[in-house]
Amino acid sequence: MNQSENPGNVAGATPDDDPRLFPRVTAYRSRSGDLRPGQQRNWQEHWPTYGRNVADELVDQQALFGRSAPLIVEIGSGTGTSTAAMAAAEPDIDVIAVEVYQLGLAQLLGSILREGLENVRMVRGDGVDVLTNMIAPASLTGVRVFFPDPWPKARHHKRRLLQSATFELIASRLRPGGVLHVATDHVDYAEWIGPTGDAEPALERLDAATDAGHVPFSLERPVTKFEGKGLLQERVINEFLWRRRE
Ligand SMILES: C[S@@+](CC[C@H](N)C(=O)[O-])C[C@H]1O[C@@H](n2cnc3c(N)ncnc32)[C@H](O)[C@@H]1O
Repeated sequence: MNQSENPGNVAGATPDDDPRLFPRVTAYRSRSGDLRPGQQRNWQEHWPTYGRNVADELVDQQALFGRSAPLIVEIGSGTGTSTAAMAAAEPDIDVIAVEVYQLGLAQLLGSILREGLENVRMVRGDGVDVLTNMIAPASLTGVRVFFPDPWPKARHHKRRLLQSATFELIASRLRPGGVLHVATDHVDYAEWIGPTGDAEPALERLDAATDAGHVPFSLERPVTKFEGKGLLQERVINEFLWRRRE
């Protein structure tokens, strides 16, 4: 993707600069925050290399990473703790982290620079928009969704990321044999996610405990600060795997 072809992709752009960066739902605004001066400098200097704003242009993996490798998209990467650790553990896999939260992307950018990670790129935008408009059908080896916002109130369930339509979209972007990996510590959302994913005809459920050998990438997640709080409260982590049918 050429920077000049994407005028909205301005280093340091805020949602006020590009209405498309406003998420469909409003929860993220509470997570907005100013970048520290060092993060601001990194953003100005390195975001054009490692990041893109969502756009109506398919990602060219060869141009983005300078190689051809299995590709995973992570939706809602937060501060990127899992993203960076998992990418470091699997240098032969390319990862695109999608997030709407600029401070989180700035933290991941810091990890990329500190750790010299060559296999992570970022897209700022709504994951549904990014999958729809930037990811070619049947091109992904994996999709990761870790601890999506649960939207616990019934009147907000329509805002949940993992709806039937999102499973259908994810299935269409996975290559046959590609795997969707979801983790949540929210019991009610887990009870929604399981049957909703199972109802997607292009996906077949794998058993997270016994089928790891059938997954073309590692399932090992570090315990993030966010997840750590859940474990302290003795909340159960539910892991889900679905494979795109051949
Ligand atoms: C509860 S946090 C979990 C972050 C991270 N995955 C972790 O495990 O620590 C959920 C994240 O998903 C992001 N998010 C929610 N909906 C999204 C969407 N439609 N597209 C991209 N990111 C989204 C939020 O901004 C937030 O950072």
